[in-house]
Amino acid sequence: MSLLTPMLEESLRAVARPRRTGRVARMVGFRIDVEGIEAAVGDAVRIYRRGGALYAEVVAAHTSMLACAPLGDTTGVRCGDEVEALGHPLTVRVGNALLGRVLDGLGRPIDGGTMLDGLEEVTIHGQPPHPLARDLVDTRLQLGIRAIDTLIPVGQGQRMGIFAGSGVGKSSLLSMMMRGTEAAVSVLALVGERGREVNEFIRRDLKSEGLARSVVVVATSDRPAMVRVRAAFTAIRIAEWFRDQGMQVLFMMDSLTRFAMAQREVGLAAGEPPATRGYPPSVFSLMPMLLERAGVSDKGSITGLYTVLVEGDDMNEPIADASRAILDGHIVLSRRLATGGHFPAIEVLESISRLEPAIVSPEDRMLTQELRSLLAAYRDARDLVEIGAYARGSNPLVDRAIELQGGIDAFLRQDLYEISSLTDSQERLRALLGGRAVDSQIAGVVAGEIAGGKLANSQIAGSRAVESLTGSGVHNMPGLSGVGGLQGVGA
Ligand SMILES: Nc1ncnc2c1ncn2[C@@H]1O[C@H](COP(=O)(O)OP(=O)(O)O)[C@@H](O)[C@H]1O
Ligand SMILES: [Mg+2]
Repeated sequence: MSLLTPMLEESLRAVARPRRTGRVARMVGFRIDVEGIEAAVGDAVRIYRRGGALYAEVVAAHTSMLACAPLGDTTGVRCGDEVEALGHPLTVRVGNALLGRVLDGLGRPIDGGTMLDGLEEVTIHGQPPHPLARDLVDTRLQLGIRAIDTLIPVGQGQRMGIFAGSGVGKSSLLSMMMRGTEAAVSVLALVGERGREVNEFIRRDLKSEGLARSVVVVATSDRPAMVRVRAAFTAIRIAEWFRDQGMQVLFMMDSLTRFAMAQREVGLAAGEPPATRGYPPSVFSLMPMLLERAGVSDKGSITGLYTVLVEGDDMNEPIADASRAILDGHIVLSRRLATGGHFPAIEVLESISRLEPAIVSPEDRMLTQELRSLLAAYRDARDLVEIGAYARGSNPLVDRAIELQGGIDAFLRQDLYEISSLTDSQERLRALLGGRAVDSQIAGVVAGEIAGGKLANSQIAGSRAVESLTGSGVHNMPGLSGVGGLQGVGA
């Protein structure tokens, strides 16, 4: 038993180290104010309430008060309950044993499976690869989906948005990628979905073969906002661990919009002012903090795919707008295609992979550019064609687009459980376009783009881009000889 009076002991403790225990002073909505405690923003605290401990995270600090966001149900919390500062942020348990498991937002299993053994405990705040140590995205990652692998190719370490409304096939597309990807491990964060959707997704869409080399982190819409925010970081932290083992990891998040909405709740409750359409500034600083964690490091890579909700085709909604600015490209899914039974409902012409020139050979690029121009020609002429007002022979490109329409459509559609390897997809595309010499007009445009894109690219990709253009027979390709830009570049 201590010989010191409690008061003296208390003041000695206060001098020796930050005060680790305080009390709940106030609770308003999803904000718990704690006084008499010192902790940094981002640190975790434990609240001793009747019926067991509740964890919370410090989200704002005032002179004598900390605003905390609960990481669980707040039932039973009362003013005066004791609060202990853990002295560090939340931790996540990571390791190979997570494969095939479904976890909650804080990384605890919720699938009723066995206890997790042999895990390592790490703080939730991993470091993104240093900007200057980041390796370049220069290798494709096969996802097993024809339309994406050929027309909107994704590189290892690239970050792509999937922009879509609800019910147009986002979750189905993610499950196809989880089954079809060549990445060693996939980590999926389901943030803010309804419980029914999550269950359906795991049982029906993913099935056991998709789950075996995946980790799923779930925070449904009924979980506290802070848990929904944390779920995204728990998932990326798990992905980082696998990447640090030297693996290529596919990280997917459904949805980035609901993550932003959760942070909006947290920020507003902590007293931030609403800025853009009710979103407080912290939302726009947190999004890059999450998205920057993907990328290529010296050990492995994390390729990020994030769904973004765009209701009523409002691509200028603040979250869609902010994410487009950070991401390296986007895949647009449309209701028009989904209601027509065309799945995956990818609007190829509105989708773009910004890193395509760095990861695709000029030969492959010419092929996909030809397909894109046929799609564009058909789209522009569709109304005329459908009412029978188009006269064959008026435009050779449109003629060819009409002739190949059925084949192109079949190429772009893909059954939910069909996996198409990149080699198969490319062969099929070549067969579809007849393997004929590329139309000189199209080739000219493509060659110009490649030459132009390559110049810009060489600043980023250094000698690699130059090699890829000058090395492998570009000069022998039909339509490319005599394109001015190439000589200068090859020198
Ligand atoms: N590749 C596909 N093949 C056939 N049907 C699909 C495919 N992808 C999606 N669907 C259909 O679309 C519906 C909605 O898909 P879902 O992935 O749940 O949409 P979201 O996640 O965007 O709300 C599903 O019920 C499914 O029947
Ligand atoms: Mg869904």
